[in-house]
Amino acid sequence: MVKTLPGPAGIPALGFGTVRRKGEDGIAPILAAIESGCRHIDTAQAYGTEAEVGEAVRRSGLPRDELFVVTKIDPANFGEGKLIPSLEESLRQLEMEAVDLTLIHWPSPNGEVPLEVYLRQLAEAKARGLTRHIGVSNFPIALLKEATAILGEGEIACNQVELNPLFKNRTLADWCQDAGIGVVCYQPIAGGRMGEDAEITAIAEARGATPAQVALAWELAKGYCAIPTTSKPERARENMGALELSLTEDEIATIDSIPDVGRRIDPETAPEWD
Ligand SMILES: NC(=O)c1ccc[n+]([C@@H]2O[C@H](COP(=O)([O-])OP(=O)(O)OC[C@H]3O[C@@H](n4cnc5c(N)ncnc54)[C@H](OP(=O)(O)O)[C@@H]3O)[C@@H](O)[C@H]2O)c1
Repeated sequence: MVKTLPGPAGIPALGFGTVRRKGEDGIAPILAAIESGCRHIDTAQAYGTEAEVGEAVRRSGLPRDELFVVTKIDPANFGEGKLIPSLEESLRQLEMEAVDLTLIHWPSPNGEVPLEVYLRQLAEAKARGLTRHIGVSNFPIALLKEATAILGEGEIACNQVELNPLFKNRTLADWCQDAGIGVVCYQPIAGGRMGEDAEITAIAEARGATPAQVALAWELAKGYCAIPTTSKPERARENMGALELSLTEDEIATIDSIPDVGRRIDPETAPEWD
C-alpha cells in the first residue's frame, strides 16, 4: 500500500527528484527508486530530465497509472498562449498522454506575467486532460491566497517548497496544511548534509537507520511529501527505506527543536518569503 498525502490528488508521500539525473546515469537511480517502491517521480521543464523519467517509467514495466508523474512549468513559458504548448512538449519528452500533476515552478519573477495569465492556462491544461491535477512551487502565503481566489478552493493540490529538519519553513507549511494544500518538501535531506547534525545522527544510530532516512521519516510523520534525489542507485534504495522507519513522538519532538540553519535555495528572482 503506497502512503499518500491527504487531499484529492493522492500524491504518493515519498517520491524521487530528478534534477541532474541525465542520460543512462540518471535513469539508473530513478529505476532503482521505482524498484524499491517509489511511485512518485518529480521532474521539470528546467531540469531537462523529462525524457529520462519517461524512459525509466517504461523500463520499470509498471502500468502507467501506478506511477504519479509530476512536471513543472518554467516561468519562460508563462506568457499568453505559451503554457499549454510547453506542457505538450513536456508530454512529448515524457512520451506520455498526460501527467498526474503540473506545477508552476516559481512565481513569475517580479510579477512580470500576471498570476491570472498563467494560472488560467494551467487550469485550461487540466480541463483539456493534459494533467490530472495542478499545483504550485515556491509560492508564499500571499500568492497562495491570490492563486486560490483565481483557481477556486481545493484546486491547488500542493505547494512544493524547501523544507527539511534544518529548515522547517513552519509558517508556510502550517498555513498550507490548514488550507488543505499538500506540502511537498524539496531539499528534503538538505542536499545530503543530514549527517552533519548531531541530533539527527544520534537518532539514526539509535534506530539503526541513516541520517537521510531519519530526515525523510520526520517529513512523512509531519504529513508532508518528500522528493529526495541521488545519483546512486544504492542511495535511492536507502532513501526509500524511510517508509519503514516510524519515529517516536520523542524523536519527532527532538527534531522539531533543532534550530533552523536557513534556506539554501534563494535565487534573486525568488518571491518575498514568509
Ligand atoms: N521546486 C523547486 O524549485 C525545487 C528546487 C530544488 C529541488 N527540487 C526537487 O527536489 C529534488 C530534491 O532536492 P535537491 O536535489 O535539491 O536536494 P536533496 O534531495 O535534499 O539532496 C540531494 C543530494 O543529497 C545526496 N544524497 C542523496 N541521498 C543521500 C544519502 N542517503 N546519504 C547522503 N547523501 C545523500 C545526493 O548526492 P549523491 O548524488 O552523491 O547521492 C545529492 O547531492 C530535486 O531533485 C528536484 O526534483 C525542486
